[in-house]
Amino acid sequence: MGKSHFQSPRGTRDIVPPESDYLRFLGDNFADLLTTAGYGEIISPIFEDIGVFQRIGESTEIVSKEMFDFYDKDAKDPQHLALRPELTASICRAFAQHRPITPWKVWYMGPQFRYEKPQAGRYRQFLQVGAEVLGTSDPAADVEVISLAWSFFQRIGLQNTRLLINSLGDLESRNRYNDELVRYLASRKQELSEQSVATFSTNPMRVLDSKREEDQEIINEAPVMEAFLNEESAQHFNDVKEGLETLGVSFEISPRLVRGLDYYTRTTFEFVSPSLDTAQNAIGGGGRYDGLVEALGGPATEGIGFAIGIDRTLLACESEQALFDLNLGIDVFVVDTTGGREALLLSDELRKLNIKTDRSFGGRSMKGQMKAADRSGARYAIIIGTDELEENQVTLRDLRGEGSQSLVPRKIIGKNLLTILQEK
Ligand code: HAM
Repeated sequence: MGKSHFQSPRGTRDIVPPESDYLRFLGDNFADLLTTAGYGEIISPIFEDIGVFQRIGESTEIVSKEMFDFYDKDAKDPQHLALRPELTASICRAFAQHRPITPWKVWYMGPQFRYEKPQAGRYRQFLQVGAEVLGTSDPAADVEVISLAWSFFQRIGLQNTRLLINSLGDLESRNRYNDELVRYLASRKQELSEQSVATFSTNPMRVLDSKREEDQEIINEAPVMEAFLNEESAQHFNDVKEGLETLGVSFEISPRLVRGLDYYTRTTFEFVSPSLDTAQNAIGGGGRYDGLVEALGGPATEGIGFAIGIDRTLLACESEQALFDLNLGIDVFVVDTTGGREALLLSDELRKLNIKTDRSFGGRSMKGQMKAADRSGARYAIIIGTDELEENQVTLRDLRGEGSQSLVPRKIIGKNLLTILQEK
């Protein structure tokens, strides 16, 4: 076969079985966890007016450099749209539009788009699950969302995840800190990497996010936010830490954790997997964004939430060998050498009983069908040849172990199989 003329666009990939099964498993688990905690699902558009995302902050890289944007086809007044790079801004837009009763607790799952330089664990289309709580500044809400994300990682068997937390303080504390940081960074500007000098001029706090070798010493010696928190912000942060301790969630204070988005105030946090490369080791993150709804034209509304990168989470599961046994294989393969009518009827009947059943197509020989049965990973084959058909029976063959087989009356094979499978 020749090479296919088209390839999936750079930075995107086709997710095929079994990886897609694992991703769905992670999504289902997340949905289950969040539903149990009283969160409802929000499904918002994949694209929005570009202004929605610009409110994240023009100096945020995902806004200034990484947006997939386009104009619609309205000849008179084309709207400038963008594929969503994240969902928090969309959810705040939806909140401002619908004004639901607070606290509004929602979860989501879906693809996000960022025009990034693709590499392992960094894609231009990637999957996130996440949750947001709007309309409360209660630190208990911070504790709830952080511990839910934590529980998710525990639940899927990731043992080595580290939780880093910090507080950026409210606007007043944050501004005071920013002033001090600018003074400090200006005094060491000559030593900073070229990229960080550029970041310094647009968004000084983001310099702390630099992973470049030459910036590390300067970052390590930079003033820390905690010393600049006003009393209220400090109390809020203490309450969050206490709540996490009460729940037994282990965390590390990371005094220079600023995260890549500009909307954060007070609590920020990140989940890091030591099993991944440092540049892509964040498997999730979040924080408070108390001014974002207002920036999007809604009433002053506090918010807190997180998003987890599902592609990276799966990579972390692979490297920790935390891969859950999904029991993906089918239960039964129907082999019919009498023309196909029996395969048609029997697979339909078994599937209706919730027995995972497959069959082959194209009138293949007995040998061909048995090969397909083996390849399918099925536990059992049900064989119907002319003799069985005449006697109203089927042959049930165990495809593992000794390969034992028995004749079973056609009428009771469904019930019979159900009992066998339940006993396994
Ligand atoms: P974020 O840190 O930009 O936060 O993204 C969250 C997670 O998405 C990251 O930790 C990472 O696992 C994954 N991710 C980000 N970019 C990529 C990429 N190019 N390829 C693969 N995975 C990626 C947010 O998006 C915020 N909306 C989180 C939040 C919710 N804050 C408050 N509420």
